Amino acid sequence: MYLTREEENILNGEYGTTLQKAIEILVALGDIYGADSLIPIKSAQIAGVSYKTIGDAGLEWISSLKGTVKVPSVLNPAGMDLEDWAGMGIPESFAIKQKEIIKAYSELGIRVECTCTPYYLQGFDLSLGEHIAWSESSAVSYANSVIGARTNREGGPSALSAALIGKTGNYGFHLDQNRVPTISVNVECDISSSDYGALGYIVGKMISNKVPLFNLKSNPKKVDLKSLGAAMAASGSVALYHVKNVTPEQLHMNFDTPEETIVIEEEQIREVYESKASFKNNCDIVALGCPHCSVEELEEIASLLEGKTVNKEFWVCTSREVANNSGDIISRIEKSGAKVLCDTCMVVSPASENYRCMAVNSGKAFNYIPGMCKIESMYATLEECIDEAGDRN
Ligand code: F3S
Repeated sequence: MYLTREEENILNGEYGTTLQKAIEILVALGDIYGADSLIPIKSAQIAGVSYKTIGDAGLEWISSLKGTVKVPSVLNPAGMDLEDWAGMGIPESFAIKQKEIIKAYSELGIRVECTCTPYYLQGFDLSLGEHIAWSESSAVSYANSVIGARTNREGGPSALSAALIGKTGNYGFHLDQNRVPTISVNVECDISSSDYGALGYIVGKMISNKVPLFNLKSNPKKVDLKSLGAAMAASGSVALYHVKNVTPEQLHMNFDTPEETIVIEEEQIREVYESKASFKNNCDIVALGCPHCSVEELEEIASLLEGKTVNKEFWVCTSREVANNSGDIISRIEKSGAKVLCDTCMVVSPASENYRCMAVNSGKAFNYIPGMCKIESMYATLEECIDEAGDRN
């Protein structure tokens, strides 16, 4: 891999051990995946934030690093709401460690905003063709597919290394040839907003890490694509997809039709809802906001909760910046007894383990909750999730 004189100097340790280790990681990955050089990135999003997932070893590693990131950088969700962790049932011993992790990241110049939807944050806007190094799988999918920016699915250490150097290896989804669709997915039925998570859950299982080109009868909104991509990245490892006549690269590039085709029928989508329907009325928690809610999604939830009182634990996850920009929406949601949680989510927080069965409207959460939180999950529409929580006045 070609390195500039300055990159060579970093590699030789002239700028200290942290940058030396960071560029060693980037060069090692670049060599494995055949990168010809390092390319500048516009921003980084760094996973490996929840104390639940990185533990003491991760905290020790991050605390050992010195320096300042070169590009706007932001974090993935933490294991708790950084302000109202006690209200989530998080023990103080966990909160202390979580705060140490956040402090260690912030000392590297990383913005303390913990979210899987960095594309909603000021300073993290993206355009077609821009290179970034993001690591949360749904954020990667959204950036690549819905915006047409370019990122590989970075691990926490490689995204952090890219942030410190301001560059990443030129391989994988940074290159045109790897962004071409490899399989057509023909969806034979009209689908509603809530169905996109179920669709992604099914397709991810079927196609693993291929690049699908969807032919849809319905016209998805961006939040529908957010659900679709998040679920495909979880049940499979899809980091990029295209939707005919919808997503930007499909509109700008003349892709050949892939040779392989799969067909999805309505019955397969219904099966996702029915697979855990035996838990209907028996879930003890409802959690929305996977990926983190936009202002528009919060508004929809607030409207559906209007005049209702929830009688089960009810979480709505979003980023702190989105919550702060939501006017009275948060208080309208919380008036029902539901909690708006910032900085965290139902999958990476240990607080989920205090429950038995979680109702979700996210294909990604549906896929991960049983393995990551050791509780049951039930997939339902947004309206059904709200009904599951309760009491209608
Ligand atoms: Fe985000 Fe957590 Fe879902 S990180 S995509 S809300 S699993």
